[in-house]
Amino acid sequence: MAAEAAEEVDVLIVGGGGAGLRAAIAVAETEPGATVAILSKVYPMRSHTVSAEGGAAAVIGLADSLDEHAYDTISGGDWLCDQDAVEAFVREAPRELIRLEHWGCPWSREPDGRVAVRPFGGMKQLRTWYAADKTGFHLLHTLFQTSLKHTEIKRFDEWYATRLVTDGERVHGVTAIDIRTGRIDTIAARAVILATGGCGQVFPFTTNAAIKTGDGMALAYRAGAPLKDMEFIQYHPTGLPFTGILITEAARAEGGWLINKDGYRYLQDYDLGVPTDTPKLRSMELGPRDRLSQAFVHEMRRGRTVETPYGQVTYLDLRHLGEAKINARIPFVRELCLSYEKLDPVTDLIPVRPVVHYMMGGVHTGVAGETPVRGLYAAGETACVSINGANRLGSNSLPECLVFGARAGAAAARYAVQAAAPDQQAVRAQGADERRRLERERDGRDGGRERISEVRALMRRTLEESAGIYRDRDSLEKAAGTLADLRERAAVARLEDRSAAFNTELLAGLELGSMLDVAETIVASALNREESRGAHQRTDFPARDDAAFLAHTLAHRGPDGTPRLSLLPVTITRWPPGERVYGR
Ligand code: FUM
Repeated sequence: MAAEAAEEVDVLIVGGGGAGLRAAIAVAETEPGATVAILSKVYPMRSHTVSAEGGAAAVIGLADSLDEHAYDTISGGDWLCDQDAVEAFVREAPRELIRLEHWGCPWSREPDGRVAVRPFGGMKQLRTWYAADKTGFHLLHTLFQTSLKHTEIKRFDEWYATRLVTDGERVHGVTAIDIRTGRIDTIAARAVILATGGCGQVFPFTTNAAIKTGDGMALAYRAGAPLKDMEFIQYHPTGLPFTGILITEAARAEGGWLINKDGYRYLQDYDLGVPTDTPKLRSMELGPRDRLSQAFVHEMRRGRTVETPYGQVTYLDLRHLGEAKINARIPFVRELCLSYEKLDPVTDLIPVRPVVHYMMGGVHTGVAGETPVRGLYAAGETACVSINGANRLGSNSLPECLVFGARAGAAAARYAVQAAAPDQQAVRAQGADERRRLERERDGRDGGRERISEVRALMRRTLEESAGIYRDRDSLEKAAGTLADLRERAAVARLEDRSAAFNTELLAGLELGSMLDVAETIVASALNREESRGAHQRTDFPARDDAAFLAHTLAHRGPDGTPRLSLLPVTITRWPPGERVYGR
């Protein structure tokens, strides 16, 4: 049972991955007297950041410039990025990566000792820093060990946040379950930062860890903060067919080819936005992810893919790179192929297919991570600030976690030290409400006919069929109806596990609730955007329509629990909308 007066901190961060840890360090550095805690569903080193592979983009060296990084990001995002946010991002990304170096991140080096950089999709300059192909692992380790030096950062490891305590205008704390004991408790906070990652698990085939169920997005949405640009789902072109495990774009950056069933580098037949004066064979595998994933669909329709028990595939060919280069630059690709496909990329082709990888959308924030709910902030994939627009460029998300994690942490710390104390009465009342609801969930649902896993599987299939690489009105309308039905079925799905400790069935039910919320916003937003832009391709509206849709979609939760949509103009500072062009 909760204590009489809830435990209180100045800043509570929900999520212990790249953005959450960076935010915690920023709180500690900005306001050394402030109390700060991280509450995370998994131990921080198990956060999904750990699985990032290819690298982190930031301008380095004189051949590149901040404006070029900004332009690549904005054109890659099909002009839906807020350019003030992009300008802040490219300016602060180099500082963040150097800071990480000082904290111990082992960036890969050139033989002369300079930091090594590799090309990446849609980036016209070499600016992707990397640590072999285990960049996320090293980055997360660096942040975690740095956070440990700040002994004032308290941790609630393996706690699951179920609700934000608010008074309608301001946040006062969080209710959460201690997964190890089942205890339901409330932590009062002057400021809360959501950094729980994305929601790839709403789809059946994803690179995302099982923990990425959109919890932070749903918490914000239910508390009155809108979700922005949820229709933009990034498919990464190269996932392993059964597991969805990512084969990093670094493999193509190091010279890998994508070939079809005839051994043909099929991308040369598609418009990837590469200018005609560019030698296409050099740059095409590093085209933007949306266009590469769309090209796969066309290859499939032309019968030029290969059927496998786990869907149609094309192949990634690394054989010409040779063993030494593969071992030095992309050792993890080899490890993954050996472990999960029983093949060796030194001698074998790797079967690959597009896989849901990243949400461009998320909680609507300003450039300091602030949301419309006072005291509530968001950063990383949970948030949409927005620097990714309609299509994120690979290697922009790790620096996004750092830049906007740091910004949100600093802003929340400054806010918290001058804000009034949380309203303990509201915290106690809403905490008690939430405890009753969760206990009812756990103890009263054994009569349901369906299993949570069945409803979840149907939701995933619905999303893939309606909001995949291509969409249209009919499939989206049908999906909206199916999701409404699934919501009712989820509310009465069977929960048989009554145990308190590690009740993963209860968690699965709560996660399904989060996923249904975000799934509804994805479908409604995709239905509303009657144009094609970046990763949102409507077969019934195949052209980009700047006159009507050079705007973000905002999805507010309506009184009946369904999304209410509006449009918000994109911030343009220096780069008026133009054509997306790649290659040099
Ligand atoms: O392919 C990759 O390594 C992915 C990188 C990213 O999504 O930023």
